[in-house]
Order: sequence, then C-alpha cells, then structure tokens
Amino acid sequence: MKSIKVGLLGIGTVGSGTFNVLKRNREEIMRRAGRAIEITMVADLNTERARELTNGECEVVNDANLVINNPDIDIVIELIGGYGIAKDLVLKAIANGKHVVTANKALLALHGDAIFKAAQEKGVMVAFEAAVAGGIPIIKALREGLTANRIEWLAGIINGTTNFILSEMRDKGLDFDVVLQEAQRLGYAEADPTFDIEGIDAAHKVTLMAAIAFGIPVQFDKAYVEGITKLQGIDIQYAEQLGYRIKLLGIAKRMPNGIELRVHPTLIPAKRLIANVEGAMNAVMVQGDAVGPTLYYGKGAGAEPTASAVIADLVDITRLATADPEHRVPHLAFQPDAVHDTPILPMGEITTSYYLRIHVADEAGVLASITSILADAGISVGAMLQKEPVEGKPETDIIILTHQTLEKNIDAAIARIEALPTVRGKVVRIRSEELA
Ligand code: HSE
Repeated sequence: MKSIKVGLLGIGTVGSGTFNVLKRNREEIMRRAGRAIEITMVADLNTERARELTNGECEVVNDANLVINNPDIDIVIELIGGYGIAKDLVLKAIANGKHVVTANKALLALHGDAIFKAAQEKGVMVAFEAAVAGGIPIIKALREGLTANRIEWLAGIINGTTNFILSEMRDKGLDFDVVLQEAQRLGYAEADPTFDIEGIDAAHKVTLMAAIAFGIPVQFDKAYVEGITKLQGIDIQYAEQLGYRIKLLGIAKRMPNGIELRVHPTLIPAKRLIANVEGAMNAVMVQGDAVGPTLYYGKGAGAEPTASAVIADLVDITRLATADPEHRVPHLAFQPDAVHDTPILPMGEITTSYYLRIHVADEAGVLASITSILADAGISVGAMLQKEPVEGKPETDIIILTHQTLEKNIDAAIARIEALPTVRGKVVRIRSEELA
C-alpha cells in the first residue's frame, strides 16, 4: 500500500525526536499502521541544521508554505509553537485538505474551537496527544479509554519545570528564586520561564483536558491561573509537617452548577500516589463514575517521549484516513453538535479546603478570635499547628487546615482575620485537595 507522506514544520527537539523514532521503529510502526509512514519534507528556518538532522533523507525547505501546499503531503506535523504563524499554517494546511498533528497546546487552548470546526468542515483530523503531558497518552485515555464514564474530575501535575522546582524546594528547603536560578543553570527551566512558573502552560493543558472530559468548548480565557512564584519554602515545610505535599495542579471538576477550571499550588495528602510524583515527571488523575480513580504517569516533555505521542497520532490518522469522517473519534471526544456550554464557575464559587498561615502576636485570645471568625463563616477547622515563638520575639505562625468551603467564604473570613490587631501582615492561603 502507498506510504503516508508527512511534512514536518519545525525540526527542534521534538521534531528531531520524531524523525529518529519514526526511522528507528519503522518496521514496528508499519506493522501497526498497515503501511509505511515517512517524513518526506521538513521546513525549518535553519536549513543547514535540518539537513544534518535528517541526513539528507528528505527534502528540506525554509518556507513552511511549500510543505502545506505540496499535494503529495498527507499529514502536516506542526512543531513551531505559539499562536502567530503556527495558527495561519495549521488553518491553511486544513484548508488544503491535510490532516494535522500538533504539540501546540497554546494554539489549541486559545483557538481550538475554530481549528476543530475548520477541520470538521474539511473532513480532516487535527490530533494533539503531544500537546498534553508529553508522552503520557492522556488524550487517548480521556477520549476513548474512559468513554463509558461520566468524568467527575481530573487533576494533573502537567508541567515538569514547576514540579522539578517544587521537588527541589522540598528536598533542599530552599526558596523559589534560588531553585529557579539553579534550574535555569542546569537547563531544566527556559531562559524565559514565564509560561511554566506562572501556570500558563499547565492552564493550556487542563483547558484541553476539560473540554474532552466534559464535552464543553475549549475556553482558556475562563481558566483561573496561579503559578508558583509566590510560594514560600516555609509553607512547603509546614504542609509536610501536616502530612501534605504542595504541587502545581491543573484541576477540572464537574459541580452541580458548572465546571471548576483552575491551576494553582495545591496541598495534597502525602499518601496519595500523585503526591509522590517528583522531579520533571508528569501525572494525571482522572475520576470516572464507573472506573473510579485512575492515574497516568510518565515524562511530560523531552524529544522522544513527546515524539512517542506525535507518532501515535500519525498512526491513528493513517489507520483512519480512509474512514468516513462521521465515523472517526470526534476531536473533542463528544460529537460536535453535542458539546454543551456548561458554565465555568468563577473562583468565588469553587469549593475546596484551605491551608492558612497566619502570623500573629503571641497573646491570650488570638487563636480564639481567629477560630470564632471561621466559625461565624461556617468554616470548619480540620487540623491546626502552632509553633513556639522564637525566643525574644513574641510572634508566631498559626497554621490552619480547613474543611471544604466556598472560596468567597474563606476570602471574607481572611479579610476579617487580617483586620485583627493581633494579626501581622497578610494571611497566606493555599488551596488543598484530598483527591480521594
Ligand atoms: N514546558 C513544559 C514543562 C513542557 O515544563 O512541562 C512542554 O509543555
């Protein structure tokens, strides 16, 4: 049977990984796909490097348009990134009748609905396993493996850079800035790590997972995004003493009145498997009503782990290319006319538990006044920790873990606590999830 011809846009880390794995496992992949899959054309601004990486085995050009306009190309792999030129190229490739494989989470989280609609109209596929959690087949699991379930919630460590930083902060008792500098020196963090440390990358990924899990549009603009830049080492230590780890989680949860869609540092009981995912590894927990809790773990980035996901999409498309578009797995798991516009809840309306660190004067009645504010707001205390004051300094930290409450209730209670004359400075508040 005629081989499937693939055009690659951008041969950086993931592109060269894809080229190498496809070549190395050519026979095995052919046995699975039913026909050969070959990259016949690569577009990259650095043509010299692209020729070196592909050993002269395919045509190298410096203009991506030559790839997407080539009638011989069946599938275009977009590994340029961002939502500028990549968006134009993906839409043009679709208009030209090409299937598209992309690792571009930013593009899909912001423009996914338009891109999937264009693909649907043209009868082509846009596959994006590599966009979420690198080599972990979480898109496949959500879209197909768990299709019997009503998904209740999912929670993931979906950014390796921040998980590496948090692991180092915990292991070495260091503060965020120190570890970030070290991570940059070692090449674990980008020179401009903004998207990672501010939680934006994780929010792109959880936005895509939420769409597939709940059959809702892709709506990054409605996600709550809080990174790890303000997290202090002391809170990681106090959390540990209470039996918790702090992770940057992307959370999507189905509630009776809407969907919670949020990324923020989160306390998790240390006994949960996901709390023990360390370094740059990724993991996603998915709770389905039939299957119960499931956990997916693996490398969320890197040349060959991400190539593993890109090639899985190439094989899927190869198998389904001749199928009637109506009979393919829908891009967002649910049939396009069955996607519901369930509201994304504002943060005041989310329900979770909270870790509070309150710096107080060590005086009689301080604790009573704090707990009475919490009681007034109907907030129940789950655990508490108070350190002995340092000698000669009559101040101390009170750490409180609350039971679940609405975020607007805790915000109101914190405002009252901060107004107490015995409370020094701002209350530190970190959300907590049992993931039970
Ligand atoms: N920068 C991401 C991470 C990988 O640190 O996990 C690509 O999404």
